[in-house]
Amino acid sequence: MRLGIFGTGYAGLVTSVCLAQLGHTVTAMDTDAGIVARLSQGLVTIHEPGLAELLGANLDAGRIRFTTRAEEAIAGSDIIFVCVGTPPRSDGRADLCQVEEVARTIAQQLDGYKLIVEKSTVPARTARWITWTIRRLAGPEHEFDVASNPEFLREGSAVHDFMRPDRIVIGADSQRARSLLLDLYKPSFECPIVVTSVTTAEFIKQTANAFLAAKISFINVMSDLCEALGVDVRTVAQSIGMDPRIGADFLNAGLGFGGACLPKDLSALISVAEENGVDIRMLQEVERINSARVDRLLTKIERALWIVRHKVVAVLGVSFKGNTDDIRGAPSLTVVPRLHDAGASLRIYDPAAMPKLQAMYPPDDRLVYAESAMDAARDANALVILTDWEEFRRLDLDRLRSVMRSPIIIDGRNLFRPAQLEAAGFEYYSLGRGDVTPGSNGHRGST
Ligand code: UDX
Repeated sequence: MRLGIFGTGYAGLVTSVCLAQLGHTVTAMDTDAGIVARLSQGLVTIHEPGLAELLGANLDAGRIRFTTRAEEAIAGSDIIFVCVGTPPRSDGRADLCQVEEVARTIAQQLDGYKLIVEKSTVPARTARWITWTIRRLAGPEHEFDVASNPEFLREGSAVHDFMRPDRIVIGADSQRARSLLLDLYKPSFECPIVVTSVTTAEFIKQTANAFLAAKISFINVMSDLCEALGVDVRTVAQSIGMDPRIGADFLNAGLGFGGACLPKDLSALISVAEENGVDIRMLQEVERINSARVDRLLTKIERALWIVRHKVVAVLGVSFKGNTDDIRGAPSLTVVPRLHDAGASLRIYDPAAMPKLQAMYPPDDRLVYAESAMDAARDANALVILTDWEEFRRLDLDRLRSVMRSPIIIDGRNLFRPAQLEAAGFEYYSLGRGDVTPGSNGHRGST
């Protein structure tokens, strides 16, 4: 099929490249000429495992091209995917300006029947607005449908998630739209395909993200209780996760959920509920619990160091989670300025995301961007872990202890076992387990 894609952010680029890989002919449009130029040369604009290889192969095969001209993505396309950003507004609602602009652009260029598909996460009933916008501008003679086909991919494993989905959700209100989307996906995927109304599909996506957020805040509250009771939250999470009704995923306690999607989609859903007069306090609490996580870590850092001023603190992890260079909603955005303001000297390292933080916080005499985790740890009074990068888990602990001024780790992601770090000679502070303090004498939370 011939596909037009609006937006080359995370969802748009991965969708474009993966659909090209499935054999479709893709024209991806972005208003940013710099991004289009880079992608056209095969240079990926995001850190995403496997994406660069697929992009190169599909450019070579002539199945994908990038343009700044909307008409090229519309003309001759059977399906147009809307993958533009839906960032949060200051009142928490989703900002749908870019979606509206795409709808207006399509309306002006309709050249026969088009199926317009929402891929970006949008509040339920957005498709109705897209339909009305196009109908008002294009007039009654043009044929088109608007469908919803939400994307569930996670950053850091986006290509894998797209190519091996758990399920595909198709929200379409006409037979023609349903058939087109089934023709697009059915030959390539064996997973369940849920066919539903447009509004239901939109709402499935919002509900999925709200549930994931709630699951994380739930385990984080339990983690605080575990700490108070002297039990290990990881053992509790593993054990409850063996019950298929609960499930093992998304039970990692720590700094809470960040990123571009979960926080934004949760607050947009809360706004939808408020507009509809539905009591949504449960999800407001999920948000509140989440925003307190970083403060809890900062309190631990203060407790570990006593006085933060003039201390050298190594900060490992800038991105909001491992395997990505995305810093949107990342704990580093709060922790770095707070420690800097408190007078600490920071030595920061991240395998992929440092340039993005550096653009916001340039180096100074108390802010250094290090070349490796070991380099960051050199002469540090404490080391703080903010991101669950695999390479941090594999650090050589003996070497780490030898390069640090004092062997203190404050771990916001629970990457290590307290007993392991105690045996390696560290003071170790984490979230939801007993801390290994100078006075703990092997007296920590049980496992
Ligand atoms: C999320 C959804 O998972 C995905 O389906 C949707 O399409 C986009 O939003 P993503 O933002 O890439 O994906 O990251 P995800 O892996 O879901 O993690 C979100 C946040 O939750 C991260 O900050 C992560 O560190 C945190 N998290 C995740 C936890 O704190 N504990 C967990 O157990 C899992």
